Amino acid sequence: MDLEPIPYDMQIFVCTNDRKGEKPSCGDHQGEEIFKELRRIAKERGLHPRIRVAQAKCLGQCAQGANIMVYGPSGGVWYKQMTLDDVPAFAEKYLTVKP
Ligand code: FES
Repeated sequence: MDLEPIPYDMQIFVCTNDRKGEKPSCGDHQGEEIFKELRRIAKERGLHPRIRVAQAKCLGQCAQGANIMVYGPSGGVWYKQMTLDDVPAFAEKYLTVKP
């Protein structure tokens, strides 16, 4: 086992779990679509994979979806009740081109 620094400037985990209505899940709130849109923006801006947008299959807060967990240099934050409408503002905050 080797220990090394995290190879990304930031990691954004988007829950894409979809329980198809059997139980509450981020799939009820377009988690997959939010993930795809954030990944698309990160790639379009040349930030991926330095800033990695990854999908998670459950972050344990299923009734609060869609959930996003962000880990960056200054620590971690959690976004709940995200919607596709929130994506542009989220992208402006986290997916900005840095010199
Ligand atoms: S389904 Fe998204 S946190 Fe569990």
